[in-house]
Amino acid sequence: MQLRNSDDGYGAIPQFLHWSSVALVAVAWLLGVFGDALPEGTARATGLFVHISVGLALLCVLLVRVLWRVADPPPPLERTALGVWLDRIARLAHYALYALLVAAPVVGILLQFARGDALPLFGLTEITSPWAADRAFVRSVKGVHEMLAHALVVLAVLHAAAALFHHWVLRDRTLTRMLPH
Ligand code: HEM
Ligand code: HEM
Repeated sequence: MQLRNSDDGYGAIPQFLHWSSVALVAVAWLLGVFGDALPEGTARATGLFVHISVGLALLCVLLVRVLWRVADPPPPLERTALGVWLDRIARLAHYALYALLVAAPVVGILLQFARGDALPLFGLTEITSPWAADRAFVRSVKGVHEMLAHALVVLAVLHAAAALFHHWVLRDRTLTRMLPH
């Protein structure tokens, strides 16, 4: 098994970083959207703690992923029947996904601080909020956090649909390059 990227496809490490980010986004989004359905008290507080921990783990994975990408650039785009312009749109979508992977958790951290609440770091320690709680600020930051999270998920679904289109309709190697052989 090759750990690094090659002209033939993504290596095992970038693949692992990609698919673990997918799992973390899914869990964070589901807990964000359905966390309010948990019974008030310990269950809801635990849901929020897990939501925040998963969001922080996503940021850590992203940091490793970006550093890895600088040291080990991705393979060139697979030649497809779609032409160079759609290939460029695919690359642009990848950069937009990276931007949203940073922005959603960072605004989540701001939201926690805007409430005047401390940010728990995986239960090991916590960072005290630098601000006093401010309801109007909380409302607007929450709206931005929610919008970024939904934008990330919508773009990721379109991106996944494009990968499946490559696989099932164009029958090229785009998807298999991101899967273990
Ligand atoms: C360190 C990272 C993160 C922190 C600190 C954080 C924090 C929060 C907080 C405090 C809430 C409000 C929960 C409540 O009302 O009880 C929230 C809601 C939410 N979060 Fe996050 N979050 C983070 C990452 C993420 C990520 C990565 C996603 C999605 C990909 C996400 C999606 C959502 C959604 C959809 C909501 C519901 C918003 C609403 O109902 O208005 N969060 N988050
Ligand atoms: C939250 C969900 C997802 C996020 C945030 C995401 C993000 C990304 C990013 C940023 C890249 C670019 C990697 C690089 O070259 O630097 C990428 C590549 C890729 N992703 Fe995803 N992805 C998600 C879900 C999926 C799913 C569900 C599939 C498959 C059904 C998929 C298939 C692929 C493939 C095949 C590539 C390689 C594309 C190519 O070679 O040009 N992704 N993904």
